[in-house]
Amino acid sequence: MKIISIVGSPHGKKGNTALLLDEVLKGAQHMGAKNETIFLKGGSVLPCLGCDKCHIKGFCPQKDEFETIKLKILEADGLILASPNYIFSVSAQLKAFMDRCCGIIHCMAFEGKYGASIVTSGGGDEKPIVDYMNHFLITTGMHPVGSVWATMGDLPENLFTE
Ligand SMILES: Cc1cc2nc3c(=O)[nH]c(=O)nc-3n(C[C@H](O)[C@H](O)[C@H](O)COP(=O)(O)O)c2cc1C
Repeated sequence: MKIISIVGSPHGKKGNTALLLDEVLKGAQHMGAKNETIFLKGGSVLPCLGCDKCHIKGFCPQKDEFETIKLKILEADGLILASPNYIFSVSAQLKAFMDRCCGIIHCMAFEGKYGASIVTSGGGDEKPIVDYMNHFLITTGMHPVGSVWATMGDLPENLFTE
């Protein structure tokens, strides 16, 4: 099984969200899954222009990494979405990716794949956000298998480094 993970934190590999994702991926690797993680930083996936070309032509005309990421997901068996809680929602980076999936949602092009959602926060409120992310996954045709979240302010500092 091949899993693509998308991290919507500007902190990238060094962020809390990537730390929690690492723990999830350790479990997946233990079960034999191969994985690739994509960090949405520096405008790699730009906001949707609302031009409707994805519905008309089947692809987005914007010159960024979205179409490459889309192909990777189409070739994979599962997708993990990971985001920090930014004002009770996903980060703008991840929301841009989700908006760009408008054409995918229209055709449910990720049908039959597995999905999962991960959120970290400073002070809580993660559950509505993972529910929202899993709802998004369902609209793309995926089957969400679960979600993981952590209030990082509540954790012992060395939880991930022991
Ligand atoms: C712009 C911004 C908005 C945030 N909003 C919230 C929030 O509404 N609730 C909360 O508990 N934490 C909030 N946080 C804290 C982050 O969710 C938290 O530190 C998270 O673990 C960061 O993950 P990262 O290191 O992967 O980016 C916010 C942080 C930033 C920078």
